[in-house]
Amino acid sequence: MSASISTDPTRSSFLSGDPKKMLIGGLWVDAASGKTFPSFNPSTGEVIAEIAEGDAEDANRAVAAARAAFEGPWRRMKPSQRQELLWAVADAIEENYEELQLLEVLEMGSPIGRSRPGKKRSSWEASVLRYFAGWPTKIHGQTIPNSLPGSVFTYTVKEPVGVVAAIVPWNRPISNAVWKIGPVLATGCTMVLKPAEEASLAALRLGELLTEVGVPDGVVNVVTGFGETVGATLTEHHDVDKVSFTGSTAVGQSIVRASAGNLKRLSLELGGKSPDVVFADADLTRAIPGAAMAVFTNSGQVCCAGTRIYAERPIYEQFVEGVSEFAKGLRVGNSLDPETQIGPLVSSEQLERVTGYLELGPEEGARTTAGGHRVMTEDLAKGYFVEPTVFADVEDGMRVARDEIFGPVACILPFDSLDEVSKRANDTNYGLSGGLWTRDIGKAHRLASEMQAGTVWVNGFLQFDPGIPFGGYKMSGWGSEMGEKSLDDYLNTKSVWINSD
Ligand code: NAI
Ligand code: MG
Repeated sequence: MSASISTDPTRSSFLSGDPKKMLIGGLWVDAASGKTFPSFNPSTGEVIAEIAEGDAEDANRAVAAARAAFEGPWRRMKPSQRQELLWAVADAIEENYEELQLLEVLEMGSPIGRSRPGKKRSSWEASVLRYFAGWPTKIHGQTIPNSLPGSVFTYTVKEPVGVVAAIVPWNRPISNAVWKIGPVLATGCTMVLKPAEEASLAALRLGELLTEVGVPDGVVNVVTGFGETVGATLTEHHDVDKVSFTGSTAVGQSIVRASAGNLKRLSLELGGKSPDVVFADADLTRAIPGAAMAVFTNSGQVCCAGTRIYAERPIYEQFVEGVSEFAKGLRVGNSLDPETQIGPLVSSEQLERVTGYLELGPEEGARTTAGGHRVMTEDLAKGYFVEPTVFADVEDGMRVARDEIFGPVACILPFDSLDEVSKRANDTNYGLSGGLWTRDIGKAHRLASEMQAGTVWVNGFLQFDPGIPFGGYKMSGWGSEMGEKSLDDYLNTKSVWINSD
């Protein structure tokens, strides 16, 4: 561990008060059962905090608080007031960004060097909220003519759906929460936020900031605990009007089943195994690092990571070598070390899962050209680190080519023609994103149009903007995050008929 690393918890005063309480109806409360669970630093395996372990009773209380808030003065708040509130939340996030980032770094292991203020990502979540701040004053229905006899006036209005349960994963704790908080506040819904059990601290600190800037009691509640208890209670609850979920496809499917009781509205942002196609005419000086970081960013714990890389035969070996060299050059280390490029995986469970695939690849016949192992150097052996790994000569049917690994594992497959690669790229149940690298605009347009995916990047990857919708085709989900389109998922449309003669 380098001398520059400080694990001094006073850098976040938030970490000094223990155990962490939940936010229900504007009050910070222990779990009804009094239980707590530990949060781990994945760089060291050390416990960094104890967190209230909510269960069904706490989830029920939070839904009741969200319902009461929805029926209270919040409903009468003017659009411009919700706009101001969203701006205030964005400002608070920006002012406290260093601390929020530190919590994220400590609880889920993303490297501090890529997320500190001054870096490009520093105000990403604030910019998302400022984007949504523009919407309350612009959400409106239409006046639509009808052909009925007499004087009948018809118009539509948009109304908030009501109580939203937002269930989020751990891979980007602040962004994942903000992508739901933005549309909730913009549309006038209320919410129960359930952070992932692996990463609840940043969400709880976010809850404090929301109350500090005056988000009314009960409008945003944060209930910590496990998916099988808090999560399942929320998704089955008859007084929850909508679930907005980000996470695994398997849990997404169970939420579809759980939601049947009251046919609640669902938006689902699920897994992926995204194709990234590199044509022989691509600028390899951009495509090699671009395709590599489309896999290795956040240690591969990215839903839209470009993990299935198809490289055209004439440049195949050169490309494999380039990505492998790039992978070997990445600095794996403690997430508090500013020099670290690749931090740990989030948990011992994910470590076990990913190392299982590291063993499976060669067994299935893949050629390991970089990495392939857990990192067991003295300073990192207690953490959940794996080497950035490249598997070459992967075949379409291998499990490493089909499953979402959610670790820093690139699979590279050769291809010979556009027709062929188009079919193979789409031969998956997922459809979250896709990428392609070429200098030929005709090829770019054709493959971008043929890819069955919610997002396609040409000569780039992992680009986001609050105005651009992000969502999945096929088993990668329903609905979108961000963009104008995302708001409709939080709104009902009412048609009003006025007979005036
Ligand atoms: P998960 O889907 O189990 O967890 C995500 C969230 O759902 C957490 O807040 C969890 O508490 C909650 N949850 C779990 N079971 C639930 C249930 N029955 N009802 C309601 N909520 C429930 O994901 P997990 O276990 O953390 O990771 C497993 C795999 O899922 C990963 O290896 C990865 O492949 C995939 N994943 C995909 C993500 C994405 O962004 N698409 C994010 C996280 C995981
Ligand atoms: Mg799970």
